[in-house]
Amino acid sequence: MSDMTQLLDVTVVYGKKKNRVVPLKNVDFSLEKSEFVTVTGRSGSGKTTFVQVCGGLLTPTTGQVLFEKADLYKVNDTRLSEIRNRAIGFVFQSFNLIEYLTASENVALPLLFRKIPADERMEKAYEMLKSMNLDHRASHYPSELSGGECQRVAIARALITDPTLIIADEPTGNLDYETGKTVMDIFSKISAEKKAAILLVTHNPWVAKVGTRSIRIEKGRLV
Ligand SMILES: Nc1ncnc2c1ncn2[C@@H]1O[C@H](COP(=O)(O)OP(=O)(O)OP(=O)(O)O)[C@@H](O)[C@H]1O
Ligand SMILES: [Mg+2]
Repeated sequence: MSDMTQLLDVTVVYGKKKNRVVPLKNVDFSLEKSEFVTVTGRSGSGKTTFVQVCGGLLTPTTGQVLFEKADLYKVNDTRLSEIRNRAIGFVFQSFNLIEYLTASENVALPLLFRKIPADERMEKAYEMLKSMNLDHRASHYPSELSGGECQRVAIARALITDPTLIIADEPTGNLDYETGKTVMDIFSKISAEKKAAILLVTHNPWVAKVGTRSIRIEKGRLV
């Protein structure tokens, strides 16, 4: 089986002198096309840093990241944006929804860069919100939604382009057990049916057991 994403000897250093933090130290990692990997570790251990590096959002201090054989941090910005938009769906820990767009418009946004007609974009976004049990909130703005509702909008936005790599940073952090279960069922279904690779950060022990492999970050290493 071919690797979708590969980290080769990756180190990330933040800050200088007494503010120096090294959340990732000489990390090697590879993710195959059909894998569903959960990532755990204490708060501040480097989980967000790790998934950002994997998803083309954070250039490591040293080391290499390959995505479908392309060297992610050596290609130019246009090519990197193209790869991210086409192939990677990212659910941010802090959602990153756009405040002046409705739930539907937020979800439809990644399709805008693909020259898909507006009515088709909005219809797809509505269907995606429906799968998250959020169709009744489609025309609400983020400020009019609860934390868990914003989280589900962020997930819908990440999934709308049918990405081959889905990265989700604590996607169930604000959800009650039942809603969290619904969301995890959606991830499992996508993993099984679409053969998308999933990298999912969680603090939650039952969520960590859902995937096909679980890794833990400790003192800058994957264990
Ligand atoms: N931009 C930055 N500049 C300096 N230090 C940073 C920066 N971003 C993160 N850090 C530090 O790096 C470490 C790892 O941060 P990271 O966000 O990856 O942790 P995490 O495992 O995702 O934590 P949490 O579970 O709380 O989300 C933390 O100690 C954090 O303080
Ligand atoms: Mg984090």
